[in-house]
Amino acid sequence: MRARLPNRAGEGSKPMAAMPTITSLTADAVMARLSELAGLLQACVHGGASVNFVLPFPMGEAETFWREKVLPAMAAGTRTVLVAEIDGHIAGSVQLSTETPPNQPHRADVTKLLVHPAFRRRGIGRALMLALEDEARARGRSLITLDTTTGGAAEPLYAGLGYVTVGVIPDFSVATTGDHLEPTTVMYKKIDEVEQKT
Ligand SMILES: CC(C)(COP(=O)(O)OP(=O)(O)OC[C@H]1O[C@@H](n2cnc3c(N)ncnc32)[C@H](O)[C@@H]1OP(=O)(O)O)[C@@H](O)C(=O)NCCC(=O)NCCS
Repeated sequence: MRARLPNRAGEGSKPMAAMPTITSLTADAVMARLSELAGLLQACVHGGASVNFVLPFPMGEAETFWREKVLPAMAAGTRTVLVAEIDGHIAGSVQLSTETPPNQPHRADVTKLLVHPAFRRRGIGRALMLALEDEARARGRSLITLDTTTGGAAEPLYAGLGYVTVGVIPDFSVATTGDHLEPTTVMYKKIDEVEQKT
């Protein structure tokens, strides 16, 4: 990352942090920025993020995820990729999956909320989620569901945005380190009923 940003917008006498620009990427843009997106995923996994992968996690595997999982879903029209950029760098990303069965046309899943370790605790994750909710509304989705590692950094983020905890599934996934199992917390938010916190 080239940019060196202060910790928090408006905190004390620190200068204002640059606000991210959040945009939805086209499939062509994902291809064009494949190594940057793979680098974001790899940095998060190497930082311990439990987002479906186990170490070692080389760049090739990260690129394969974007090429073979994300791009086909985008082509099918069931995946939106949002990125948060600061000074032209991808600082974070989140995906909305609308690949739901015929009886759940109102539901969407959140997947791969990722903020690069160099850009954390500046409100980027929260901003990405608010943009994702706008995207879900635009696509007629009123119920958002997700699961996240119990006790992880994302759990309080989602709770702060009004996501309701359904429960915890023990031993849900193998930890990034590969040496133990971790629980996951299942959460949801009805975005037609919950007032946005700004
Ligand atoms: C989880 C993650 C996306 C948060 O991104 P972020 O940009 O740092 O989050 P924000 O700055 O928007 O934080 C918003 C709020 O979430 C909570 N939060 C975020 N990170 C936290 C942490 N490490 N510990 C506790 N609470 C945290 C806080 O309430 C925070 O508000 P505050 O900073 O005013 O206290 C980021 O840590 C990340 O990419 N982690 C690895 C990937 C991952 O686990 N993704 C979730 C998959 S379900």
